Amino acid sequence: MHQESEIQHSNIILVGMMGTGKTTVGTLLAGMLDYPLVDMDTLIAEREGISVQEIFRTRGEPYFRDLESQVLEEVLSRKGQIISTGGGCVLRAGNCSIMLEKGLVVALTADADHIVNRVSGDNNRPLLAGDTRQRVQSIMEERKDVYRFAHVTVDTSLLTPEEVASHVLTRYRVQAF
Ligand code: S3P
Repeated sequence: MHQESEIQHSNIILVGMMGTGKTTVGTLLAGMLDYPLVDMDTLIAEREGISVQEIFRTRGEPYFRDLESQVLEEVLSRKGQIISTGGGCVLRAGNCSIMLEKGLVVALTADADHIVNRVSGDNNRPLLAGDTRQRVQSIMEERKDVYRFAHVTVDTSLLTPEEVASHVLTRYRVQAF
């Protein structure tokens, strides 16, 4: 069993589909643990000086994915952070391996209805442009297995963000990382 001080230094890495609450729960966890919140999409957008949507539009998804892997590696060279990843960050096996090594990986899931409700009216997600329900269902189908590698999975459909955060915190404290 590791000492509490060691546990406190490892990262909590939130993965999951768009609309599962990674950033909301990440913000709560950051407050509870007094850790910085690193939102990968925000960092990528700051780095490029344009929004994620603009990166997709003008430079294309492969460019975004390369940048995402690069930024992930940089972020994970540090400890004691709550990291909210973009929903597609798990699409590269290399990203998943480094996440598993560098922290507690928590997958947030939700059913399609809850995801559609949460992302409706938000125009910042290029992959959901068009018929939101149809896009959510098709991406969920494509990605149905990709979040399974996580150490912990929490279905957020019927939980408040506070309940999800407190569940994650409990798992973080009992897990010796
Ligand atoms: C994506 C999710 C987005 C963002 C980009 C691509 C995806 O992040 O990285 O639009 O492929 O699922 P959120 O999950 O934070 O919305």
